[in-house]
Amino acid sequence: MRKIAILGAMREEIDPLLSHMDNIKEINYANNTFYEASYKGKDVVVAYSKIGKVFSSLTAALLIEKFGCDMLLFSGVAGAISSDLKIGDLIIADGLCQHDLDITAFGHPHGYVPEGEVCIIADVKLREIAKLVAKDKGIVLKEGVIATGDQFISCSDKKNWIYSTFKADALEMEGGSVAVVCNALDVPFFILRAISDNADGSADIDFDTFLASSAKISAEFILDMVERI
Ligand code: ADE
Repeated sequence: MRKIAILGAMREEIDPLLSHMDNIKEINYANNTFYEASYKGKDVVVAYSKIGKVFSSLTAALLIEKFGCDMLLFSGVAGAISSDLKIGDLIIADGLCQHDLDITAFGHPHGYVPEGEVCIIADVKLREIAKLVAKDKGIVLKEGVIATGDQFISCSDKKNWIYSTFKADALEMEGGSVAVVCNALDVPFFILRAISDNADGSADIDFDTFLASSAKISAEFILDMVERI
């Protein structure tokens, strides 16, 4: 049977998952807590990494290498770039890039380092499952590029630059690094985000206001996906 990793960045992103789980067993490791549990008969391991690319890479690698997960689903919130996306809307990543990775001084494109890729593609089968779940729930699910960086974006100029450089529809701080880890370890992965803010001048206020409600929307969708996997 599959063992499914479900990863968030913040406590608020995994609490609405854990509240539906059975047989929860807590394991403390590497300055973090991992929750082995079951959901509707499926084996899962849930964790939140802490914010950013380094912590999320570490936690994704541990979920796979130490806890034996053979699939990873990320649940959390994002800032909207596309005007199609409103607070509470869901987006799934078709590809993920790192907007803050910059060795352009050597003639490389933004987001690229030698032997890496600008954009890593998320698992197609998991995206198909997400589309079936969305259809069942009558939810509009946007699919697009998600841009990741170690910065909370609260400025329209920076947001517009990320759009023009990567054609990204949403931005956050973990998806691109989780994609690198899963891609390297050949583990299918899926990144889901519910919009918490518009990455503009009021993003900090909106984020605080909508973090919990948007995180719950994402978590509930992920649980419906786990049932179908
Ligand atoms: N996650 C949610 N909103 C974000 C923003 N504005 N910038 C970076 N990560 C985010």
